Amino acid sequence: MYIRKLEKHEKVPMELLLLADPSKSFVEDYVAKGDCFIAESEEQIIGVYVLLPTRPKTVEIVNVAVAEEHQGKGIGKLLVSDAVRVAKTHGYKTIDIGTGNSSIGQLALYQKYGFRIVSVDYNYFVKHYSEEIYENGIQCTDMIRLSREL
Ligand code: COA
Repeated sequence: MYIRKLEKHEKVPMELLLLADPSKSFVEDYVAKGDCFIAESEEQIIGVYVLLPTRPKTVEIVNVAVAEEHQGKGIGKLLVSDAVRVAKTHGYKTIDIGTGNSSIGQLALYQKYGFRIVSVDYNYFVKHYSEEIYENGIQCTDMIRLSREL
């Protein structure tokens, strides 16, 4: 498996991106503005992340996803550490990521990689998503924003 930047002419792995974000219009919007990186194995795309510059010297991982059959094997960790490496290489000083209050595993993963909770966007998912989202038996209502200095 290796991770590489997706060229602008290549098709984005929309199915994978929708695993992390059910809003196709949001995904299309940030994919057009940011850079998409893919994990490939045997010519199959099995993981993806998207980096989007948001403020001076700051970039955000706006999407990270691993194909369901490949989850739990360390690929998500490789994607997050690759995003940190790429952001550092490009001279960014801060990397941000956001996740839902119900995304227990994701909150664990990001904190294991040095991201700290900086704020809570209260009712973000209620305001911006038409469908109710449930994970781990918890309604996803609030966006937990995390950040790491590079
Ligand atoms: N408590 C503690 N740690 C947990 C956990 C929990 N409930 N759930 C997951 N983790 C940890 C794992 O233990 C692992 O760390 P460890 O090896 O040190 O134990 C780490 O989080 C993730 O492991 P990994 O195998 O690399 O994750 P993955 O390849 O399955 O990828 C996602 C993680 C989130 C990218 C993947 O599950 C996915 O695509 N989910 C659907 C899309 C999504 O939710 N994207 C994120 C949107 S914010």
